[in-house]
Amino acid sequence: MQYITQAEKLFLLRTDETAYLLLINEYGHPEHLHYGTPVALADAAALRYKRTMPYGAEVLYAEDDPTYCLDNLPLEWSGIGKGDFRVSPIELELPDGSYTCDFVFQCAKLQPGARGASTLPGAYAEESADAETLVLTLKEKVFALQLELIYTVYPHENVITRRSVLHSQEASPVRIRRMMSQLLDLPNDGYRLVTLDGDWIQEAHRHDRALMPGCFVNESTTGNSSNRHNPGVMLAAPTACEDSGNVYGFNLIYSGNHYTAVELSPRNMVRIVSGINPLCFCWQLAQGETFETPEAVLTFSFHGFNGMSHNFHEFILHRILRGDWKAKDRPVLLNNWEAHFFDFTRRKLLRLARRAKKLGVELFVLDDGWFGARNSDHAGLGDYTVNRKKLRDGIEGLAQRINALGMQFGLWFEPESINTDSELYRNHPEYAMQLPGRTPALGRNQLLLDLANPAVRDYIVENVSSILDRANITYVKWDMNRHMSDIYSAVCPAGELYHRYILGLYEVLERIFRARPHILLESCASGGNRFDLGMLCYSQQIWASDDTDPIERLKIQKGFSYFYPPVCMGAHVSQSPHQQTLRSTPLSTRFNVAAFGALGYELDLAELSPIEHRQIKEQISFYKQVRHTLQFGRFYRYQLPEMNKDVFLAVAPDQSHAVLSFVQTLATAGDSNDGLRVKGLDANARYRLTAVPQKVSLARFGGLLKHIMPFTLRADGFILRTANRVHALPDGPFSLCASGTALQSGVGLNDQFIGTGYHKDLRLWGDFGSQLYVVELEQEEEAE
Ligand code: GLA
Repeated sequence: MQYITQAEKLFLLRTDETAYLLLINEYGHPEHLHYGTPVALADAAALRYKRTMPYGAEVLYAEDDPTYCLDNLPLEWSGIGKGDFRVSPIELELPDGSYTCDFVFQCAKLQPGARGASTLPGAYAEESADAETLVLTLKEKVFALQLELIYTVYPHENVITRRSVLHSQEASPVRIRRMMSQLLDLPNDGYRLVTLDGDWIQEAHRHDRALMPGCFVNESTTGNSSNRHNPGVMLAAPTACEDSGNVYGFNLIYSGNHYTAVELSPRNMVRIVSGINPLCFCWQLAQGETFETPEAVLTFSFHGFNGMSHNFHEFILHRILRGDWKAKDRPVLLNNWEAHFFDFTRRKLLRLARRAKKLGVELFVLDDGWFGARNSDHAGLGDYTVNRKKLRDGIEGLAQRINALGMQFGLWFEPESINTDSELYRNHPEYAMQLPGRTPALGRNQLLLDLANPAVRDYIVENVSSILDRANITYVKWDMNRHMSDIYSAVCPAGELYHRYILGLYEVLERIFRARPHILLESCASGGNRFDLGMLCYSQQIWASDDTDPIERLKIQKGFSYFYPPVCMGAHVSQSPHQQTLRSTPLSTRFNVAAFGALGYELDLAELSPIEHRQIKEQISFYKQVRHTLQFGRFYRYQLPEMNKDVFLAVAPDQSHAVLSFVQTLATAGDSNDGLRVKGLDANARYRLTAVPQKVSLARFGGLLKHIMPFTLRADGFILRTANRVHALPDGPFSLCASGTALQSGVGLNDQFIGTGYHKDLRLWGDFGSQLYVVELEQEEEAE
């Protein structure tokens, strides 16, 4: 084996830039030695935690060994009742009614490639040489239970995945009340814990906190991976910043209730356990049965947060995404939701589609409201009959018309939900998740279907598939718009339902979309309520947030970018003022932020002026030229000293070009000169940096136009109102040539407008102004 080395009971797992070292100790417990920078097998003795003194007041595992106390050891797994009082990875109710369990080593197996779970989605290796797997089998000391700890090394992504599997040969059932995917104990280095938290329309905001003695839990309890707390968690050394310092990243390939506990122990060790949330979890394991946990993903980088993100991005691009769209450039789409909501007809849609086509849009998406009595969000979910009043020749007819215009066609579904006002509910109330004899709590006026029930799964698969096969649909938006409540199923115990729902969801997605790999699937759950690695095993992109205000999106997209690459983030340009913030932002900024994602437009094009149409056309044409880099390039975040500015950067893998978005939130008067640092370039090459041409609306200047025009016009007068529809001012034209090193250390930009005069090269930014810059290899002036 190339990446996993075994020396008796010592195991070294190596990736290109990291090493993970563990051993099976004299008591058969897997002991953790090291995870981080590369080390060798020969370092094991040096790295091992030393036990030379007995401790007072501790529970000793073996009577004759006063130094062996599980509570003090860095471990790879642990149990309950043998003296480790930190958070346990497992809690079993055993046949004798006890909870005490002690798993000890039985055997180890090394194998090439990955070993996927049979009930859950996971990472994969196309070639067996791309990954190696170590399986440690442990057995419970008293009961006939076998536990596998499975480690897979993805060397080039610097990722190690871990999962655990429990198998019972006990005659009486064992109740699993908690079973984590992984446990890791690290020596504390003063780590900060970084999480991504939020709510609807404010997903993935970054929060940092110091680790304190005790336990911090990052979890979701909503039934989804949730917009409250993304499953991704980071541990960063005190001095770590975007480009340097040690950062660990942990995530879970799971879309349901997740749980990551980070505990700082009295002996200053950090324990990280992650897996399915034990809340209301109780799984009955009968003789001969196996329980699999979701795959946990671990990475480490000494190149700061950006380095950690690069590992995750590569891992997602090569080991998670699947289907024909895995590595294909995403089409520019137009989604009709914010243009029409429920109020549309075929004519209205086609009018919008024709305008979209003229602008260069490639995919037209019909959102909610096309089926059953779905004229508001009070009715229709669960039904699949097309509303012929709105679409007289059905979805097939509409798709044909859209195709004839030269665009692909995509369709919205919300298959996991049901309105009580629907044909499905009238015929099958038992399909809905609700407690007999109790009034269920609604979310967005709807209930969820019980996906643990095979009849429900068949209903969804048959109905969605038949629509997909009747029309030429190459994109699906799979929505899910409520948290779970009233946890009850007629087909399984409540303690299994949260997890069985997710298993049911995966089965449905597998049956519908594995058979139709040509479909680009965008998952959505009221925006980013289910933005996780489990969904990415099926959907190649996820709608990041219902909030499309570019200033809000900066935080949201930046937050998600810690774990997920831009190509996975649906990002749309929408109307200004924005529907949720009432904030007016320039069209350029709306694009300059959305461009760092899978770009779409979601607004009524009929309300735009001719100049705005022209601008959008230019935006789309520019996006198409550089989208491969924006979607699949190496993405960098910045840590700028100014709180009111931010930069996103995408660099082509061959370093031949890069695109930056420089955004200002609130303007400050008399701002100092801005510079731009371009990371990730070839230091020895020469490049040209050019501002992507953009325009600023005359209306932004109001009465200030006198500063920039030789004559005076009334700001609200007819002439300016008319001019504003067809004319706009160039904003911040700029170009310079510099070496890769100069660009990396920072080049100066022109000033912003501050009312002291006008110059054609000024950046006319103000509040919420921004600019895209392209960096390209300068052929003629290449260094000798
Ligand atoms: C959710 C989605 C939106 C839209 C609506 C339709 O809110 O996040 O993008 O699809 O549902 O009802």
